[in-house]
Amino acid sequence: MNRRKMLLMGAAVPALAGCEKRQPEKVTYEGSSRDAIIDNMMTRRSIRKYTTEQVSQEQLDVIMRCAIYAPSALNKQPWEMRVVQNPDILAEVNKRFLRFAQGKEFQGSAARYREPGFSIFHSAPTLIVIAGDKDIPTATLDIGITLQNILLSAAALGLGTCPLGSLVPILNLPENADLLKLMNIPTDHQVTINVALGHAAESPTAPIRYSDRVKIIR
Ligand SMILES: Cc1cc2nc3c(=O)[nH]c(=O)nc-3n(C[C@H](O)[C@H](O)[C@H](O)COP(=O)(O)O)c2cc1C
Repeated sequence: MNRRKMLLMGAAVPALAGCEKRQPEKVTYEGSSRDAIIDNMMTRRSIRKYTTEQVSQEQLDVIMRCAIYAPSALNKQPWEMRVVQNPDILAEVNKRFLRFAQGKEFQGSAARYREPGFSIFHSAPTLIVIAGDKDIPTATLDIGITLQNILLSAAALGLGTCPLGSLVPILNLPENADLLKLMNIPTDHQVTINVALGHAAESPTAPIRYSDRVKIIR
């Protein structure tokens, strides 16, 4: 940790943040191999442009093993995970989103759904669908942790990811139950989060972080 060097601009001055416009945070980090986990957390970004190169079975083995090694309350592992690389199913998922989106407005990248060639999963070649057991109250929290294991292990392998909350309500619509059936997701589970996975074709900088939301009370 002592060799770690961080340069935080903008977000490092919470006392002045009051009514001023918050500036994006620039993070520079140089760590030793001992700091690999911290480096990984600091440099992982959500990727919204992918190459067409597919994620290999070996890479998936590592990522999904990390996923199932996430902690969960009472070790219930209240999830079902599906890794979709089938182009027909991917196209159908996007089609269902577009059908739902017609005439609606969205925030974030989904707002661009009217653009030609739009993909709700950023045209990633792999889509991970994670569904949680509806009867287990901790399922959402447990899945949040497994999500982070997926994001960080993929980043460690040099792959890009993007969590996709925008697809969640669409996949849970009764009219799309056939899609979940096709993916063999049990009816007592609901889609909780999705992840785009592939080889990154962009290197975005970190969006702003609000360091003034952390207070140390001594
Ligand atoms: C639960 C969750 C849902 C998200 N949903 C989407 C989404 O639907 N589409 C998208 O492009 N990014 C989505 N994101 C990515 C966030 O926009 C991103 O994590 C955030 O802007 C911080 O950027 P970073 O991941 O590069 O650090 C989601 C992230 C989380 C944690």
